[in-house]
Order: sequence, then structure tokens, then C-alpha cells
Amino acid sequence: MRRYVVGNVKELPPGERKLVPVGGKGGIGVFNVKGRYYALKNLCPHKGGPLCQGRLRPHVTSPAVYQLDREGDGEILKCPWHRWEFDMRTGKALYDSHLQAKTYPVTVEEDKIVLHLV
Ligand code: FES
Repeated sequence: MRRYVVGNVKELPPGERKLVPVGGKGGIGVFNVKGRYYALKNLCPHKGGPLCQGRLRPHVTSPAVYQLDREGDGEILKCPWHRWEFDMRTGKALYDSHLQAKTYPVTVEEDKIVLHLV
């Protein structure tokens, strides 16, 4: 397993993302969502769009008429090309769990954000 130091934790505050030039075509997007780090390949499994340039939002469900529930802290990433949505925690597409974006483990080691390329 290769390691890549993304930067210091102060360089990636909550709500920010950083695209790093590793992992092949498009690179890998590293996200800080309320203090938790996620990393995904910047290549949408649908048609190859720049997935990590998409908007983040909470997971919204509708269990009953006129009822909307929000789950999570904004870990849903919407691809900018065709708006398919992926859960950054698993990489899975919301509407077809067979379609999955590549995810990578991220750790914090002595204030450094470390991406693990597996
Ligand atoms: S390329 Fe991402 S949804 Fe189509």
C-alpha cells in the first residue's frame, strides 16, 4: 500500500476538498466533512465525469407524504455531469448500489492527512 501526504490538517478545514494528482486519470479528491475525511477517485463510474467537482449534500429520504428526513452530515456527492449521487462513506450510488465509485482510506498522523492508495 502506498501512502501520499495530502497536507496539514489546517490546509483542509471542514467543508473543503483538495484534488491530488495521484491514483491515475483525474486524480483523487480528498474531502473534510465536519472533521471526517473521505477520498474518492475523481472519475465517475457512470460515464467518467469529474466526480469530485460535484456538490455535496445530506442524504434526504421521504418516508411518508410531505415528510423529508435528512441523514448524515453532507456525505452525498453529486456528479456534475449527469447528477448521479454517491455516498462518500461507501462509494455506492444511491439509486443503484451495484455502481460504485472507488474510495480510499484516509488517516490523520501527527497533523498530516495521509491518503492510502490501495
Ligand atoms: S458521468 Fe457522472 S453521472 Fe454521468
